[in-house]
Amino acid sequence: KKESKQFTIGFSQCTGSDNWRKTMQQSMYRELSFNPEIQFVIKDAGGQSQKQITQIQELIDQNVDLLIVSPNEAGPITPVVERAYQNGIPVIILDRRTNSDQYTAYVGADNVEVGQLAGAYTNTLLRGKGKVIEISEKPGSSADIDRHKGFTDHIGGFGGIKLIAKLDGDWDKYSFQAPLSKLLKTHSDVDVIFCQNDRRALAAFKVCKSLGVEKMIRLIGVDGLTGSYGGIDLVDRGILNATVLYPTGGEEAIRTAISILQKKPFKRDNRLQITMIDSTNVRIMKLQGEKLVAQQQDIERRQQKIEEQRAISENQSIVIYTVSIT
Ligand code: FRU
Repeated sequence: KKESKQFTIGFSQCTGSDNWRKTMQQSMYRELSFNPEIQFVIKDAGGQSQKQITQIQELIDQNVDLLIVSPNEAGPITPVVERAYQNGIPVIILDRRTNSDQYTAYVGADNVEVGQLAGAYTNTLLRGKGKVIEISEKPGSSADIDRHKGFTDHIGGFGGIKLIAKLDGDWDKYSFQAPLSKLLKTHSDVDVIFCQNDRRALAAFKVCKSLGVEKMIRLIGVDGLTGSYGGIDLVDRGILNATVLYPTGGEEAIRTAISILQKKPFKRDNRLQITMIDSTNVRIMKLQGEKLVAQQQDIERRQQKIEEQRAISENQSIVIYTVSIT
């Protein structure tokens, strides 16, 4: 008999198309593979808040036992998440936040701190004087609001650093490329571009390169993924000056979910650590990252073997059962 799933976790993902979110989901599945009693349902809103609201409502109607939400934009997603919580569904907020404290647990790094770290790094690079451009995350997302706040609060403390523009990057459409190009033509003395994620930073680098100014402008990103053209690799190649390692929190979210479902103790605020990666530590980060990926692949291979064994033994029991009733 196929074991019935004991719990269903619904995950409302704001978008699943980029590597950071794919890495998040892989780590969730890896963690879930240790708990075959859990059914996991992901709904991907493709970066659209309206769609995410509908999908969260569908998960509520489906009576999931627990909801994980990574909100697209804080404002629009807040009411439906509050509704789920008020309906008695435990809610874990992951990475980005809503505007409410009606949730069961939060997992993620502090994005104000991300902005502050980038601001502090900018100040060190510029020795307190220079021109800066910021390229945003998804406008309206808490990541965008908080990273911007941390960054501007910090550089604002140094009278000589000027933020000349904040350009809105809208997901992977790179809508900032034309305005960036225009800005760099009028301000030939820009020193630093702070990009709220590494994908934007790579796109900004391409703009700088097309104008022949890539050696003069220093780029700071966020995310620090492993793998070819991930943030760590971009720092190693000298394309980025630095990136803030921003962990996805995928496995911590699943572990917290399991503790909640099994009525075990859990932490309400699971603040993940961030760190700056630049030329001084990029080698070690790269080596450690590669090792981690190899270990993770090993876990996945083992899990696959266990699954195969399980399928074989299930088949065998079906055969025995069939024989005994005929
Ligand atoms: C991925 C992403 C990351 C960023 C995070 C913030 O979708 O844009 O690049 O760090 O979301 O919520």
